[in-house]
Amino acid sequence: MSNNKTQSGTRNLVRIFDTTLRDGEQSPGCSMNPQEKLEVAKRLEKLGVDVMEAGFPASSPGDLESVKAIAGIIKDSTVAGLCRSLEKDIDTAREALAHAVNPRVHIFLATSPIHMEYKLKMTRDQVLEQAVSAVKYAKKFCSDIEFSAEDAFRSDPDFVCKVFGAAIAAGASTVNFPDTVGYAMPVEFGERIRYIKEHTPGMENAWLSVHCHNDLGLAVANSLAAIQNGATQAECTVNGIGERAGNASLEEIVMSLRVRTDVFNSDSRIDTTQIYTASRLVSQVTGVKVQPNKAIVGENAFAHEAGIHQHGVLANRATYEIMTPQSVGISQNQMVLGKHSGRHAFEERLKDLGFTVDAETLETIFAQFKDLADKKKVVSDRDIEALAMGFSSVVPETWRLDHWAVNTGSALGASGVIRLTHKDGQFYKVIALGDGPIDSIFKAINQIIGKEPDLDLYEIGAITGGSTSQGETMVKISLDGRHWNGRGVSTDVIESSIKAYLAAINAMEWELSAAFSQ
Ligand code: KIV
Ligand code: ZN
Repeated sequence: MSNNKTQSGTRNLVRIFDTTLRDGEQSPGCSMNPQEKLEVAKRLEKLGVDVMEAGFPASSPGDLESVKAIAGIIKDSTVAGLCRSLEKDIDTAREALAHAVNPRVHIFLATSPIHMEYKLKMTRDQVLEQAVSAVKYAKKFCSDIEFSAEDAFRSDPDFVCKVFGAAIAAGASTVNFPDTVGYAMPVEFGERIRYIKEHTPGMENAWLSVHCHNDLGLAVANSLAAIQNGATQAECTVNGIGERAGNASLEEIVMSLRVRTDVFNSDSRIDTTQIYTASRLVSQVTGVKVQPNKAIVGENAFAHEAGIHQHGVLANRATYEIMTPQSVGISQNQMVLGKHSGRHAFEERLKDLGFTVDAETLETIFAQFKDLADKKKVVSDRDIEALAMGFSSVVPETWRLDHWAVNTGSALGASGVIRLTHKDGQFYKVIALGDGPIDSIFKAINQIIGKEPDLDLYEIGAITGGSTSQGETMVKISLDGRHWNGRGVSTDVIESSIKAYLAAINAMEWELSAAFSQ
């Protein structure tokens, strides 16, 4: 076997390189705190990604710490750290990946005329030389090196072949061909990949990767065209999050390969039944909602509204479904849970939904479930998922909510009173006036914590239909250019807002505290 292809039965195995935690996370509005990154990393490992790019260690001390933490716990996936072709970046990646079971150093350098002239101010020869010396430098301590030619699609193909060939000779085991600006069309991208595969010296000894952005909505189509033409690794993100219009969506690439093996004769190692919970987790922690009609993971992806469709699906699901909801981990459990349901049934449902929790957490979530079941007759899977998600990202509570009240009306504005307990045991109670109930209560919280973060996003929605539905609030706050997200769930929308705001505040306090930077 040459090392650029593995086989499962008679099918080729395409490597899935997930960059949710790097290219996804670095895009505006998708930031995650270190604890959330760890949770996502664990979920990606469960999903079975071959490689997870955990971050760009030299980009910030926070990223360095996160990559270190992820490298320390992930065993079954390779953990990659991104670097520019600079020794100082590679040294930082070395530090970040020191404890990884399977580390990968991912080095990039642009090869397109526009990037070389205006961004790098380097000639072709200089780019070639720097790429080779960076790969050689990293190879001294890491056997698994990936080299990316940034903006490869807008580069001279023969120059890319030359740089890739030199990178492979210097020790790169994977070369990556990004369509950094999402400019390619599927047919030409496929042809380009074939050309690169056939004209790069030493390509038979390396993995050929693609990394497609979605500016024209073609990132998945281009990745698949590349796989048909010899690419052996696809870079992608959960829910397709990423710079501008995003990256290629992991779930769409993986399910295309799985559903149409007849076309691709290729598959991946991904456990597709973990897709839905991974998608939900990424959406929850980034606060970026999945559009309802998004393929595979959108709320309507398996919904059949039209009567004629429903009739067909009832007779035989395959009339209108090319894959089952179960195959991507969407539970179709018909058993309704309510106030009489026992702990065992509840735990089973949690497992069906992809949550395995320790005994103590189970007790707490079960108690919350019982409370909710007292308020609502039927507790839906979405409700249970919302409760469990509250435990999937445990940032230490610097501030805990004790109680609150608001007074509001059309004439006089609103007043809010809140009592919070600090982790040192001291409690604080403040009243504030505001333009509305949320404004007044958030102002009261700000007075207690002594900080005034900007509220960049405040979004509220109902988890299920009906007036007893739980309200789900997402907030994004920022202070001095740093961002934090928070999410809260409650049958009372003001309480869900307070919980969301406090979750973001706690993430901020934790990250700004000495404990995190140690
Ligand atoms: O889009 C891009 O070119 C990248 C590289 C750093 C791989 O993200
Ligand atoms: Zn990218």
